[in-house]
Amino acid sequence: MAQIQKAKGLGDWFDQRMGTKTLGKVLMTEYWIPKNINFLWAMGILLATLFTILLVSGLFLLMYYKPDTKLAFDSVNYTIMQEVSYGWLWRHMHAVAASVIFLIIYIHMFTAIYYGSYKRGREMIWLSGMLLFGIFSAEAFSGYMLPWGQMSFWAAQVITNLFGGIPVIGPDLVVWIRGDYAVSDPTLTRFFMLHVVLLPLVIIKLIVLHFYTLRFPHVNNQEGEEIDFDAEAEIYKSGNKKESKVIPMWPVFISKDLMVVCIFMIFYFYLVCFHYDFAMDPINFDPADPMKTPAHIYPEWYFLWSYEVLRGMKYSFFGISASDIGLMAFGFANVIFMLVPFLDRSPNVAPAKKRGMFHIWFWVLVADMIILTWLGKFPLTETFSDMGFYATMVFILLFVALPIITLLEKKKG
Ligand code: HEM
Repeated sequence: MAQIQKAKGLGDWFDQRMGTKTLGKVLMTEYWIPKNINFLWAMGILLATLFTILLVSGLFLLMYYKPDTKLAFDSVNYTIMQEVSYGWLWRHMHAVAASVIFLIIYIHMFTAIYYGSYKRGREMIWLSGMLLFGIFSAEAFSGYMLPWGQMSFWAAQVITNLFGGIPVIGPDLVVWIRGDYAVSDPTLTRFFMLHVVLLPLVIIKLIVLHFYTLRFPHVNNQEGEEIDFDAEAEIYKSGNKKESKVIPMWPVFISKDLMVVCIFMIFYFYLVCFHYDFAMDPINFDPADPMKTPAHIYPEWYFLWSYEVLRGMKYSFFGISASDIGLMAFGFANVIFMLVPFLDRSPNVAPAKKRGMFHIWFWVLVADMIILTWLGKFPLTETFSDMGFYATMVFILLFVALPIITLLEKKKG
């Protein structure tokens, strides 16, 4: 048992009981961040901020939302949007944050790929990040169902149907997920449970894990330079702050991050007040009608690239139907990013622009994903389905090529 003495103040009182000073050092004042980073390293804090906005706005929406197929649509579109004071504002904030968080996630992911931040002991950061991406996708999908509009219903129909393609257990699995033979009230209530309880809890735990995995390897830097953090920290603490290659998380790095957060908030509230429409599909302002299929069903913009991979495979091979191949390609697209640290065989941690072939690989991947996203919104005409097929093939081949080009890079030294 620790020796408890008369406390010199409130801080000391807590420190004697909980070691708060040590905790503050480990997490804040002696958590060292390289100086040589740019604004792209603020994306993580932006994500944490957006997630907090989602939690708070979600709590307000939850006070009026009704998880019942007969009441859900009106509780959102009438009660929250028209009757409750500022209900529209909370809804716009929630919808815009849900959409923008994916834009920032993609920027955060591609920054990590560009700078090779998943290598040299940083594999766990990447893996926990990818788990976050997966759970965020489930969170967004389950949330999209809640207003019980036409797109909510039909997107749920299409996505739950996908599981039917799994051999042997597929059809039973679909019924199990839906809680019924068709998408109906039990489907809504279980997705409501996932959206407001289970998945947010998992996300919070994963964010803590993600932050923890960062603590030992420390964040990467713009040149991929291997920094001796202990030595540089000593230089900083001795007063030679200019010579040191690192700064403490608190208050120096946080103040820079907060600057980016403030600028981002201007952009975010501009969208919330004047351009929220991009985050809300007009078709979803029609109540769900199981008897009326919308002319064209598509997911939110952030899932369009993988949706295009799903429907891009239009030829059967070796007796396997085109739709089954599409399903396999979709599964591939959803797990392959997880494996990037192991597919990249070069130990070279450097920005892509200094990595020859990898630089080309990176920009072709970005361009291909933008093309897939663009194509995903169009109805399947002959021209668009051809383009979708080629863009899907390029996506798959890029990941086949990744180990080869990075092995060549390794050999070159
Ligand atoms: C809500 C989700 C997320 C939050 C709150 C979050 C938060 C953070 C924070 C605060 C950092 C440190 C500063 C920075 O580099 O931005 C970071 C770094 C990192 N994150 Fe995330 N992240 C999230 C999702 C992801 C995803 C989806 C990935 C992709 C796999 C990912 C991969 C990484 C990597 C590799 C680093 C290390 C960067 C470096 O060393 O330079 N994160 N994250």
